[in-house]
Amino acid sequence: MKVEFYGHVRQYRNLQKEIDANLQQVLLSGQYVMGPMLKRFEEELARYHNTKFAIGVGNGTDAIWLALMALGIGAGDEVITHPNTFFATAEAIWIAGATAVFVDCDPRTKCIDPAKIEAAITPKTRAIVPVHLYGQCADMIAIRKIAEKHNLRVIEDNAQAMGASGSGFKIGELSDAATTSFIIQKNLGTFGDGGALMTNHPQIDERIRKLRNHGSNARNVHSYGFNSRLDDLHAGILSAKLKCIDAWNDLRRQWSARYTAGLKDCRHIDLPVELPGYRHVFHLYVVETKKPERRDALLKFLNDAGVDAKTHYSIAIHQQAGYPWGRDARIVGPVSNAERNAASCVSLPMFPELMAEEVDYVVAKVKEWDKAQA
Ligand SMILES: Cc1ncc(COP(=O)(O)O)c(C=O)c1O
Repeated sequence: MKVEFYGHVRQYRNLQKEIDANLQQVLLSGQYVMGPMLKRFEEELARYHNTKFAIGVGNGTDAIWLALMALGIGAGDEVITHPNTFFATAEAIWIAGATAVFVDCDPRTKCIDPAKIEAAITPKTRAIVPVHLYGQCADMIAIRKIAEKHNLRVIEDNAQAMGASGSGFKIGELSDAATTSFIIQKNLGTFGDGGALMTNHPQIDERIRKLRNHGSNARNVHSYGFNSRLDDLHAGILSAKLKCIDAWNDLRRQWSARYTAGLKDCRHIDLPVELPGYRHVFHLYVVETKKPERRDALLKFLNDAGVDAKTHYSIAIHQQAGYPWGRDARIVGPVSNAERNAASCVSLPMFPELMAEEVDYVVAKVKEWDKAQA
């Protein structure tokens, strides 16, 4: 049997009528950039997040640095995050011109460990960028407390957890802005690149709308800015898909529960942890080999058996060759949990359109590998 890592085409087939209708509507409207479909999708997205504003931008990386820039954060400022996220989180901090400061992650959730943040704060610290990694929210209540105490801004990198929530909080509620990515593999993904930013602050909304459009909100009137807009064709695809996001996340949760039930007796891997009261939306279902040196063998065993397992992310940002490429960066304290995560992670296939026999096959193969370990 072959089990793919993504189900993009299955998803398109299931929703083809709605997606094609929206694409037709855009094509026949004659308005493809900053047109009515983008406006409609932005309103739908803000409603979904229960935020006052949502602004579509070119991609999830741009959404982060545009947010930093809209908050006036740049050269000479420090921004705290963790090094076992996708590279783009740190990249965005550097694009904004700021210093990336890395602290360790929580060993259970792999999200930033709030207990490690305060030691990294200096007079130059301006913001924290927690990442809701793999589909589970970082501890925003603790992060918000620290931010308030030290007068810091918080930008949630929510590229991976659209539709998740924490115990007693929602995404976008305890921060200055939440950003997301719509690259195809995300829980809400388009057929290409896209991103957005959600906020309750009119000033951030206004600044981002100008920054994304060559510093302009009126024809021929410009200030310093960029070209980073979500185009209307992507907005149309996303508008059709947004209606399904909760049902799709429920399916992800269903498959993750099936993985967890099937793998619970494995002795050589650790399974993902869902914190009590949290809604984890399993962008990724990531297991870790108890012995990091055995990770590559598990990955190869699965790949050889037709299971397209992958790693997210097997090289922590500070361990990449050439780090930090002349950019400003600091690491505060040991980041051994993040390094262990990088060394031991294996992502099993996870998408809403999986089938029970595919999940069961993956479970059987992981168990077979586990049993063969001394
Ligand atoms: C955690 C995280 N942050 C940022 C990004 C960047 O998004 P994009 O690829 O749309 O620029 C991604 C995904 O690609 C991501 O997973």
